[in-house]
Amino acid sequence: MIKINEHYLKLQASYLFSNIAKRVAAFQENNPDKDVIKLGIGDVTNPLPAACVKAFHDAVDEMATEAGFRGYGPEQGYDFLRETIVANDFQARGAEVNSDEIFVSDGAKCDSGNIQEIFSLDTRVAIPDPVYPVYLDTNVMAGRTGGYNDDRYDGIVYLESTRENNYVPDLPQEQVDMIYLCFPNNPTGSTISKEQLKVWVDYARDNKALILFDAAYEAFIRDESLPHSIYEIEGAREVAIEFRSLSKTAGFTGTRCAYTVVPKECMAYDQNGGRHALHALWNRRHCTKFNGVSYPVQRAAAAAFSAEGKVQTKALIDGYLENAKIIGKAIGQLGFEYVGGDNSPYIWIWGDRDSWDFFDLLLDKAGVVCTPGAGFGKCGQGYIRISAFNSRENVITAMDRISSALS
Ligand code: MLT
Repeated sequence: MIKINEHYLKLQASYLFSNIAKRVAAFQENNPDKDVIKLGIGDVTNPLPAACVKAFHDAVDEMATEAGFRGYGPEQGYDFLRETIVANDFQARGAEVNSDEIFVSDGAKCDSGNIQEIFSLDTRVAIPDPVYPVYLDTNVMAGRTGGYNDDRYDGIVYLESTRENNYVPDLPQEQVDMIYLCFPNNPTGSTISKEQLKVWVDYARDNKALILFDAAYEAFIRDESLPHSIYEIEGAREVAIEFRSLSKTAGFTGTRCAYTVVPKECMAYDQNGGRHALHALWNRRHCTKFNGVSYPVQRAAAAAFSAEGKVQTKALIDGYLENAKIIGKAIGQLGFEYVGGDNSPYIWIWGDRDSWDFFDLLLDKAGVVCTPGAGFGKCGQGYIRISAFNSRENVITAMDRISSALS
């Protein structure tokens, strides 16, 4: 008899963004004349930068020739991309990362979800609340949690991010082995200073723990005192894996290209205390389960780091940040307390009412889709998240409609 992985039965009915998409589809079916503006899932709307498009086309043309055709590429990514990433994203900021520590992939969602496979099932996991749901759900699927009670999974150490700690969690009271951190934060849009991040790196070093650092939104940082990478912090190479993505940086949500950094010094332990390099383990996993990102996509990704690519991607992000300002201003004028939007595309709004009720209200009365904070965890109850990813025109219209509906 074929049996299921019963840990899946502990999961909430459906993935947050699928659930929202279903509700929006039902609303649209019942209200076919209503125009809906989506400021929910963080999906980019502007076209790919011209430099990426050209590189993409050129690479497809190369593939059409006998001399330029390529079959399977290196699972970890082509050297031209790995070297470009290292020079631009790390060495330019004084962070030590080598090109053979870069694992190119098709998404930070997949990598941050898959990474837990290389760790023991009795790993004590600390996860922020609110949080991008992938970190938690993948640990539930693996069997690292108990059941779901009172909006939380047994066995997980929740790191509460609230207005009291300015949405940067404090160190856990109990000892943990694996810590997820995401800055600029999804969903709150909050940021972490170098000093605050150093506290986490020191904790991980003192406790032989590991930090899984999601930096998918680093390109939105405009305050230059803030760290773009955890490797800007001394000692982080021993205790941190970092996830990066071109999705929000260069408009690659549909094109798919991301990467994970696993420094060679980064270790974990077997049951006898023996040290093992995570680089070797992740490499083994990556080569077994992944066949690399396509050559044209990697060429397009590398072009995002060219001189013109950088200008074009910065313009894209500046545009979304300007949207974030418009959203923040309108929300502030309505009297709501909010954070985020300065160094992040997300605005985290205290609605002072049930998150899903607020979601329904904005959809019904304004035809605007947001994300209910409760979908990101218990501490998200009472909040909604509005994303800056849409056209300027749609953002202005959405905020006008929200203002009319709520004032
Ligand atoms: C979000 O809206 O939180 C993200 O876009 C989802 C994702 O990146 O998978």
